[in-house]
Amino acid sequence: MRILALETSCDETAAAIVEEGTHVLGSVIASSREVFARAGGVIPEEAARMQVTCIHPVLDQVFSQAGITEKDIDLLAVTRGPGLLGSLLVGTTTARMLASLWKKPLLGIHHTLGHLSSPWLSCTETPRFPLLTLSASGGHTELWYRTDHLHGEILGSTRDDAAGEAFDKGASLLGLPYPGGPSLARAAEQGDPHAFPFPLPLAGDSTLDFSFSGLKTALKYTLRDLGTDGAAPERKADLAASYQHALCRHLIQRITQALARCPDAQEVHLVGGVSANQHLRSLVQDVCDGRTLRTPLRLEFCTDNAAMIAAAAFFASREQQEKPGLPFTTAASLPSSAALSPA
Ligand code: KG4
Ligand code: ZN
Repeated sequence: MRILALETSCDETAAAIVEEGTHVLGSVIASSREVFARAGGVIPEEAARMQVTCIHPVLDQVFSQAGITEKDIDLLAVTRGPGLLGSLLVGTTTARMLASLWKKPLLGIHHTLGHLSSPWLSCTETPRFPLLTLSASGGHTELWYRTDHLHGEILGSTRDDAAGEAFDKGASLLGLPYPGGPSLARAAEQGDPHAFPFPLPLAGDSTLDFSFSGLKTALKYTLRDLGTDGAAPERKADLAASYQHALCRHLIQRITQALARCPDAQEVHLVGGVSANQHLRSLVQDVCDGRTLRTPLRLEFCTDNAAMIAAAAFFASREQQEKPGLPFTTAASLPSSAALSPA
């Protein structure tokens, strides 16, 4: 089965063609990152305007990469939410129009189900359920225990900021460019992760929830106390490394606790933009206790992309055994708990 998927939930315009949920024939991601780097963040109306102009060239490019035509497509899929409404509508309106023009079925996919499916892309072995997934991006942070693609539960989620948001806000406090995650990780390479002892959030809490806002405040007060010293390059590197380490320690502690509660988990998956973080990857490896650790095989599959939406659509249509083409709504806010349910 060949699926053409579109993903336009934030500032990217992405299209992909994926065969059997894993084999990526083409994947194109047009990002307006440079434009928003100057603004220091995404401007929703501007993002949607750019997506309107990008979507057709991106579609042309993905078909030429894959070397096929629309006649070879069996199913269309599109991110239906959550995300920026104007941006989502560019993707869903285009997908609805193409599905009707080409007389193909169309599936609306929850953005988080896309991230959860990303480790299957280009993967030659089949991951084994049950498995534990940390899904951490700019909009959400959750620990999932799943027994198959569409069955499972959220063990814990963030009470305030998302992990990616904590990277972004920390980078901004340190005067590092947008997007904050990669620039903070780069600055941290030269620093000492133990130079500043930031606290472990929710240390005595018995849930598997996350909280990142206290760390951001701790960084703010540390910078205030350092005064002009905080701006020196070596101090900045130490601050970035210590802050990154504190965010990762919190994530790792929750993964360790979740594995103790779910000892039958065969694998640990890291997905979402934050899974691109190398420091996090190396720390998670140490707590997997012999289990397979999987991250998306290409860095572009960690952050938002359309191939993960195609993978999710493939497994959803296979496991639901429903005729694709169910009506769906486009929704800016959708709870993560709805990720495994049909539209
Ligand atoms: O999944 P994603 O592309 O978009 C959302 O669904 O939000 O995640 C974007 C987030 C941003 O907050 C970005 O700063 C973070 O992922 N991110 C990283 C890294 N690369 C991207 N955070 C830490 N280290 C990275 N290398
Ligand atoms: Zn995402």
